Amino acid sequence: MTVILAPAPPDSDLKPVEGSTTNGVIQILRMRRDPFAFAAAQQAEFGNVSFINAFGQRIVTCRGPVAADQILMNKQKAFANGPAWNFFIGPFFNRGVMLLDFDEHRHHRLILQQAFTPPVLKGYMQAMQPIIAERIKQFPVGDVKLFSEFKALTLDVALEVFMGLELPQAEANRINKAFIETVRASTSIVRKPVPGGRWRKGLRSRKILEEFMMSHIPAKRAAQTPDLFSVLCHAESEEGHRFTDEDVVNHMIFVLMAAHDTSTMTMTQMAYHMAKSPEWQRRAREQSLELGPDLAYDDLSKLTDIDLIMKESLRMCAPVPGQPRMAVKDTEVMGHFIPKGAIVSVPGLTNHYDTEYWKEPFTFDPERFTPERAEDKSHRMAWHPFGGGVHKCIGLYFGQLEIKTIMHHLLRGFEWSVPDDYVMPMDYSALPVPKDKLPVKVRRV
Ligand code: HEM
Repeated sequence: MTVILAPAPPDSDLKPVEGSTTNGVIQILRMRRDPFAFAAAQQAEFGNVSFINAFGQRIVTCRGPVAADQILMNKQKAFANGPAWNFFIGPFFNRGVMLLDFDEHRHHRLILQQAFTPPVLKGYMQAMQPIIAERIKQFPVGDVKLFSEFKALTLDVALEVFMGLELPQAEANRINKAFIETVRASTSIVRKPVPGGRWRKGLRSRKILEEFMMSHIPAKRAAQTPDLFSVLCHAESEEGHRFTDEDVVNHMIFVLMAAHDTSTMTMTQMAYHMAKSPEWQRRAREQSLELGPDLAYDDLSKLTDIDLIMKESLRMCAPVPGQPRMAVKDTEVMGHFIPKGAIVSVPGLTNHYDTEYWKEPFTFDPERFTPERAEDKSHRMAWHPFGGGVHKCIGLYFGQLEIKTIMHHLLRGFEWSVPDDYVMPMDYSALPVPKDKLPVKVRRV
């Protein structure tokens, strides 16, 4: 049965947001089974703006680039991140920059930006290059689960490049474990600290991370080193503001999380498509072999095939599938009345399949991103895997340089394949991940 979210004010031309009374559990299960079919059915029934029942509340899904632009650019300051994201990740990523809003967000973002300027990125890349080269030399051959390999590799890179600490193995394992449990907790179904549950482990692990980071702050403040931890301890905005110790800890924990799964998933998608389309794998390998092993920051732009493959992989599977916001005042999206307090969501995952902007969206076709075709430029929010507006991903260049560097080394040393009829089974219950961890056959080239 169709119902409305809230009646539009009588003196307005706005339409109410519609949705169905279908039980939330059923809707979530349908969405997880096939988010694309679910989105298409919802759009056919209710149009671009409608609500779904999920997690015990009504969430207004606003489809398409026009709605994405309105919400993410947020010109009327009608939408806030904190109250919406808090529901999903609040206790574990407390006061991360993505959970802050308006003036407070701006204050933190301006300082944080100092850690992602081109000269600082060059420093991270120099630190990362030998670690990645060394790790890829030892990459396993034969039957390999690529998702697990990428996850372990990006975690090692993150701990060294972000933390800049040489830890005894037992301590590194303890911190890795705490980090993994903190991230896992945000996807737990039971959202209470019951004994043995993910939520409780997540809270305990967050505490371990806080204490660990806090204990290293005096040394990090005392000396300047090229890792993110040290950069955050010394960063100063143009207005002369700096982070407190608590800020540094909160941002470090959030950034570690924001960087890790997103990059892992992008590489997994790229590797999958290159296994399914060996011609693209060959093309990308040729470019990497031509460039030589030592990749400099300025060489990244020469990896044009890896770049096309990455963009298309991010289109076909946006690692952050939706961006939630809460309306902080009565407002509208595409002519629909959104009452104060409503949760809205910009569905990045399914927006990238809109046939108005993308030709045959279910086909892997990296050349759609070439300047000649430029489908991504058909609307400024047609392609938005990194979000948009003031909360646009601050690590988008870092992420791309890490992904490209890893892929460059991998392609130079190895080739990989899957059986012709293999289709990667996806789990869309939280961030999209392969249920089978992407098993491939790896050979040295
Ligand atoms: C391919 C990899 C990545 C993807 C697809 C991605 C995607 C996103 C998206 C969609 C948002 C916006 C969320 C929203 O508006 O609600 C975001 C925010 C953010 N990302 Fe990324 N991200 C990636 C890698 C990284 C990396 C490597 C870092 C750090 C080194 C990072 C740090 C952040 C931070 C700090 C924010 C919050 C920014 C703010 O609120 O001001 N991300 N990311």
